[in-house]
Amino acid sequence: MQTSLSSTKVLVVGAGIMGAGIAQVAAQAGHSVYLVDARAGAAQQACAKLREGLDALVAKGKFTQAQVDTLMGRIQPVAGFADAADAGLVVEAIVENLDAKRALFSELEALLSDACVLASNTSSLSITAIAKGLRQPARVVGMHFFNPVPVMKLVEVVSGLQTSPGVAQAIFDLSKAWGKVPVHARSTPGFIVNRIARPFYAEALALLHEQSASPQVLDACMRAIGFRMGPCELMDLIGHDTNFAVTQAVYAANFFDKRYTPSLVQSALVDGGMLGRKSGRGIYDYAAGSKPPVVDMQALPLPATSHLQLHGRPQDAHTMADWQARLQAAGITVELVPDSAWTGMQAGNLQIRQTDGRPASALGAHVVVYDWHVPQGGAPVLAFAASSGASEDQIAQAQAVLGALGFAPQRVADQPGLVVARTLAMLVNEAADAVQQGVCDPAGADAAMKLGVNYPAGPFDWLARWGAPAVVQVLEALDVHYRGERYRVSPWLRHAVWQTHHTA
Ligand code: NAI
Repeated sequence: MQTSLSSTKVLVVGAGIMGAGIAQVAAQAGHSVYLVDARAGAAQQACAKLREGLDALVAKGKFTQAQVDTLMGRIQPVAGFADAADAGLVVEAIVENLDAKRALFSELEALLSDACVLASNTSSLSITAIAKGLRQPARVVGMHFFNPVPVMKLVEVVSGLQTSPGVAQAIFDLSKAWGKVPVHARSTPGFIVNRIARPFYAEALALLHEQSASPQVLDACMRAIGFRMGPCELMDLIGHDTNFAVTQAVYAANFFDKRYTPSLVQSALVDGGMLGRKSGRGIYDYAAGSKPPVVDMQALPLPATSHLQLHGRPQDAHTMADWQARLQAAGITVELVPDSAWTGMQAGNLQIRQTDGRPASALGAHVVVYDWHVPQGGAPVLAFAASSGASEDQIAQAQAVLGALGFAPQRVADQPGLVVARTLAMLVNEAADAVQQGVCDPAGADAAMKLGVNYPAGPFDWLARWGAPAVVQVLEALDVHYRGERYRVSPWLRHAVWQTHHTA
């Protein structure tokens, strides 16, 4: 089925938060739009609300009054489908219920032309399942927008087993014409974004469960590498009920694969009605408008040591030169070990090592490990952990050295992969599995995470930065430590490691 939707009339079904946004974006791109809702008056109300929002943007100089009048003139609230029989595209944004969506498309199939494309904005239902039983399942496709629709750039174009490639391509092209960045996805649980994002929340919840770090330290570590919000504050904002429901849906849809096991920490919050900002309390307490606490970033003394070795690999040369200069500025003489088996610093019998996934205690008695870091220019919070044999003096020494390098070190429990390395490795692992299973390609995964949930980089950007061997090392350390299915390494990543070895 080959089709172009560039000037077609669009029928948006469901005039809630998503439907209204989709109607606006379609009208903004020049389409005539019909808007319909099962609840009488809802489409008119949605139009009134849209106009109110757009008028406010006129006041801010973002639109002219004439533009708003033209745009709103293109959206026509209608009472029933008969008034929209000449539509060439339906985008449904009704209640998230499989039977309701099937019934809707089946009713529309009888009324609309055979060429009309039937798109669903579902965020969790299978496109293959929605299309079941229809006369022409090939014209059913996912067109998954993100909230708020006029702002968020990503559209996941989701193909079910029977979706025609021509229909998916037409929705892809149309999304582009609407100013969006479309990404092709296969209809699998969570599509791209809601699937790959699971470890961002799950690893933070696992660390809270084990009492490895406070929520404010977890949030500060993730903000330090460029996330706009840390996982705890973000779950509080999304609402734990919603976040937990998505996790449960992905878990169930994967036949209870342990990789996606929901967290007891979150289920307790939901059971207790501590849903986040909207209920005044979640992981943090928002009573009386209070904000989440921030980590204490006290000034550190200069390191007591006057000499240390700086270890790294040839590819770390740039960082080593920078660190050498910083340490020298702190009065420390530095001996470079540029082809070392590990990255970090040695001061006497104390090793201060960048994590390779293994806990400090697994590496030796006098070891401190520090987390992965991506310089962002913001607060350079860095998690570290100490081996059970390290003395308080050695821990203070390691903190002072990290402080001299410009970091604000925060101590966490001695678990594998600290905070950032563990979370990023799992995000990369999930993205690698998605690619392995043909859900999307690496560029699509990166674009989806950056544009759908504002990640500072995509999983394959992080993979390029650290390399498959380092990512796999962290995952294997987690797997050895915890056992079970959660940290099993994606076959795609194993191949990436072999490829690195063959091309080295
Ligand atoms: P909403 O509750 O704001 O709006 C749904 C609207 O559909 C309501 O006005 C309701 O009266 C109407 N409706 C329900 N059944 C209908 C039917 N059979 N025929 C016609 N109208 C019907 O919901 P929202 O948030 O706009 O979500 C709509 C869809 O978009 C769902 O499938 C949801 O999963 C999906 N979605 C939601 C996102 C969000 O952040 N809210 C993000 C991406 C997708």
